[in-house]
Amino acid sequence: MTYIQRIGVMTSGGDSPGMNAAIRAVVRTAIFNGLEVFGIYRGYEGMIDDQIEEMFSHSVSNIIQRGGTILKTARSERFKEYEGRLKAYQNLRTHKIDALVAIGGNGTFTGASIFEKEFNFPIIGLPGTIDNDLYGTDSTIGYDTAINTVVEAADKIRDTATSHERLFFIEVMGRDAGFIALRSGIACGAEFILVPETTTYIDNLARLLRHDWRKNKTSGIVIVAEGDDMGGAIEVAKKMKERVPEIEARVTILGHVQRGGSPSAFDRVLASSLGYHAVKGLLEEQHGVMTGIINKEVVYTPFEKAIKHYKDINTDMLEMSRILAL
Ligand code: F6P
Repeated sequence: MTYIQRIGVMTSGGDSPGMNAAIRAVVRTAIFNGLEVFGIYRGYEGMIDDQIEEMFSHSVSNIIQRGGTILKTARSERFKEYEGRLKAYQNLRTHKIDALVAIGGNGTFTGASIFEKEFNFPIIGLPGTIDNDLYGTDSTIGYDTAINTVVEAADKIRDTATSHERLFFIEVMGRDAGFIALRSGIACGAEFILVPETTTYIDNLARLLRHDWRKNKTSGIVIVAEGDDMGGAIEVAKKMKERVPEIEARVTILGHVQRGGSPSAFDRVLASSLGYHAVKGLLEEQHGVMTGIINKEVVYTPFEKAIKHYKDINTDMLEMSRILAL
């Protein structure tokens, strides 16, 4: 028998499509198992400010299809300080909350890991970020939807690029990871994909583009992850203009459009199963871990490993994308 009777659930850090589906799964699985559930608003900020309210089955009706997060989200500076975390702990105890389900990414789990050890308070994580940069799951909640958003936009850009015979640099999110860039770039047939995980040789890129244009191309798309070592799309386009002025270029920064929208069916199913298994995991005394799915199997990975253990980008796919765009 587990001692957990009351759990808290929160979303934290950058939002991602599918977070609502995850909240729904957590709330309903918990209630089914006889637990009481409390929603914590605005992530760690709300935990510090006591923005905590009980949730019921009807609290999560009609949200599976909605982007964003009904619990709101925030990045908390105060939670990085011990005083902030102590306040948060006291609020949880006041509400008699015994355990927490945290839905978020790197920052969320860094905080969770410290808090759990400091106060011996059980926390289980769900990977909610469009970046897919967490070790211990094939896909994070929101990644699939974000890729589809990028592809939809890139297809539209391809139309105008073809008509005007231009080269487009499209910047996608990913400060430290190129997963969005790589997958969306392959899906939209990008000529080049620039990611933070590999070095971008700008003169080489200029040479290849010149060669492509001489051969047969009159238009093209370069997907640039915002964290690429050469800088974002504006910087890369500027450098290319200096080197290849004969190619007319434009820049599109997709920005936060990638974080919104109705979650794809894939993200809804992923979020539902992760939410369900997170609560089951807590009841089986799993904590200090992130719930993930690898090769269709549910796995629980310690927070430290999920955030620090590097998830490799598939460089073969980068090579493949170049060959297929020749
Ligand atoms: O971590 C998710 C993410 O969307 C990153 O890809 C991006 O760099 C960052 O959040 C942007 O954060 P903010 O919305 O706080 O500017």
